[in-house]
Amino acid sequence: MSGTGDGFEPLAGLRATELADGALRQATHPNGTTLCVGRHAGNLFAVKDHCPHAEFPLSEGTLYANGELECCWHGARFDCRTGAVLRGPADQELVRYDVVEREGVVFVRRAR
Ligand code: FES
Repeated sequence: MSGTGDGFEPLAGLRATELADGALRQATHPNGTTLCVGRHAGNLFAVKDHCPHAEFPLSEGTLYANGELECCWHGARFDCRTGAVLRGPADQELVRYDVVEREGVVFVRRAR
């Protein structure tokens, strides 16, 4: 499956229905970038799957009910909606992607 012409690219091997609220999954962008995809309050989100502190995969972390995404290596926390750092030791915001769901397929586009 190819892109949609609006910059969104499909994530192969990941169905939106696999992501219950609070879930985190690792997925690969067609360009090879590894993403952490999750669902918070019913909405899908995606960020690069590397903690900006020391590159640990955020998809192995914890997504709390308040939308805080915690890296399980050193405990940095981020806002899953904005990518903002909420707690160190990380000091850089997350690289975010816009996400849409079309017929059960998850599409992403680098957020501007
Ligand atoms: S690698 Fe994420 S907090 Fe250190």
